[in-house]
Amino acid sequence: MSLITLLFFSTISLFKISNSSPLKPHPLPILPLPTSQQLQWQLGSMAMFLHFGPNTFTNSEWGTGKVNPSVFNPTHLNATQWVKIAKDSGFTRVILTAKHHDGFCLWPSEFTDYSVKSSHWRNGTGDVLAELAAATAEAGIGLGLYLSPWDRHDLSYGKTLEYNEFYLSQMTELLTKYGEIKEVWLDGAKGEGEKDMEYFFDTWFSLIHQLQPGAVIFSDAGPDVRWIGDEAGLAGSTCWSLFNRTNAKIGDTDPLYSQGGDRFGQDWVPAECDVSIRPGWFWHALESPKPAVQLLDIYYNSVGRNCLFLLNVPPNSSGLISEQDIKVLEKFRQMKNSIFANNLARKAVVSSSSIRGGQSLQFGGKNVLEEGLDKYWAPEENQKEWELYLEFQDSVSFNVLEVREPIQMGQRVASFYLESRNIGSGKWERVVSGTTVGNKRLLRFPKVKSRSLKLVVDKARADPLISYLGIYMDKFSVSSKNTTKITITRTLQEEQQQHDSTK
Ligand SMILES: *[C@@H]1O[C@H](CO)[C@@H](O)[C@H](O)[C@H]1NC(C)=O
Ligand SMILES: *[C@@H]1O[C@H](CO)[C@@H](O)[C@H](O)[C@H]1NC(C)=O
Ligand SMILES: *[C@@H]1O[C@H](CO)[C@@H](O)[C@H](O)[C@H]1NC(C)=O
Ligand SMILES: *[C@@H]1O[C@H](CO)[C@@H](O)[C@H](O)[C@H]1NC(C)=O
Ligand SMILES: *[C@@H]1O[C@H](CO)[C@@H](O)[C@H](O)[C@H]1NC(C)=O
Repeated sequence: MSLITLLFFSTISLFKISNSSPLKPHPLPILPLPTSQQLQWQLGSMAMFLHFGPNTFTNSEWGTGKVNPSVFNPTHLNATQWVKIAKDSGFTRVILTAKHHDGFCLWPSEFTDYSVKSSHWRNGTGDVLAELAAATAEAGIGLGLYLSPWDRHDLSYGKTLEYNEFYLSQMTELLTKYGEIKEVWLDGAKGEGEKDMEYFFDTWFSLIHQLQPGAVIFSDAGPDVRWIGDEAGLAGSTCWSLFNRTNAKIGDTDPLYSQGGDRFGQDWVPAECDVSIRPGWFWHALESPKPAVQLLDIYYNSVGRNCLFLLNVPPNSSGLISEQDIKVLEKFRQMKNSIFANNLARKAVVSSSSIRGGQSLQFGGKNVLEEGLDKYWAPEENQKEWELYLEFQDSVSFNVLEVREPIQMGQRVASFYLESRNIGSGKWERVVSGTTVGNKRLLRFPKVKSRSLKLVVDKARADPLISYLGIYMDKFSVSSKNTTKITITRTLQEEQQQHDSTK
């Protein structure tokens, strides 16, 4: 055996030591990308807002800042009840109005007397935030805070430097004394004719990130999470997490820009859809919660449009979440679980128009039936068509489609549709179409019976990646079934008009 031949064989055997071929690299992520805090926030899907304070006792929404602190006296306050209800109903974080516009603090701030300290509740020794922080830590769900920039009580309000110092001192108390904070919620709400002053937002944001690096900051303009632009929980039917922060102003946003995001945006700023379970944000004895099917509808139009659903459930004047609201939340949970527990696509054989590198284990179509962002379908590069096929042994009936992108790789899909092969004629027929996908897209349509389905992506910012595909039967939200086709072709402008006219 010559030396050359010897070398040749030993090289072969060297390679044989590893008996699987090396993996094909993942495709390049496309900017902008989410931070790990934004990813964790988005995968949480739903958060519960808790509006609570003197307004709860005075039947008001915007307190004047002049009511006597003694009105605040929740006789049965139990933060464990709030957290248990939130967790049992599928919410992954709760956000408390630590201070609303009236300036009253639900924690014993050292920078004002206008707080729980001056109330009769627990003889002035109580701390709502401490009780809530203990309950969330115990239950393992996230805690967020709203500290209203507008303060109608404190005398420094209106004096720019003094008030910014006061505000940041309170913020520091909140972010250093109560453990881990997952979200800080800010808005630009301010009454007509209120004193003019500047908020030092950049300083606030820097300090918040310094004190709580795991927190996302919510405002009209991010930096981490943006307001959707209405208080109805309604996202645009096209909804990019991409956004230009410089195009948005806190307290003065263009709702259409917020609802749709920006395909050409430079920043990753996904949207949060806030809405109250009741007509008001605070509890009022004469108001009732929305029916569960309406919450389901909001879920489709928020979580199902690449956003987070932030539902306000205001504790009552006893300091407990009311029985009526608990019943609605329970029903909402049951409906949601019964729809989404059973992905009928799991019975399908999945194939695709192409597979990246031909590596079917790594990037094949079957990956879309596995939960989680790590496994996804990736097509071969430079393809004219991006298609996923589902073949069923027995026909399936469904009226909901779910599509997800692995958003850690950036948001890509700009347009897609689902087709079904007619069992009789054998022709492909359009079931539904949509624009953006993002973390999760849910679409409803009249019931379809099929044995062959085709998901087609026809526009994308880069090769599309699909991490999950689901089809479901929704027996509850009948009201929207017949309007789905109209909804998806409606423009954002029309949706906004409709929203305005139904306010
Ligand atoms: C508070 O609520 C929790 C959960 O519902 C309950 O287990 C607990 O007994 C309540 N505590 C009090 C003091 O009522
Ligand atoms: C509050 O104060 C009253 C009177 O000073 C006292 O009777 C009561 O036991 C106190 N309650 C608590 C919870 O400390
Ligand atoms: C957002 O920024 C990008 C890059 O500067 C720009 O191309 C795009 O037009 C901007 N979007 C809007 C709505 O101005
Ligand atoms: C608040 O809700 C609880 C049920 O969790 C109920 O027992 C209580 O009566 C309610 N309080 C008021 C003032 O409605
Ligand atoms: C919705 O469509 C179904 C059949 O597709 C029909 O029976 C029903 O009457 C329609 N409902 C409304 C409110 O139009």
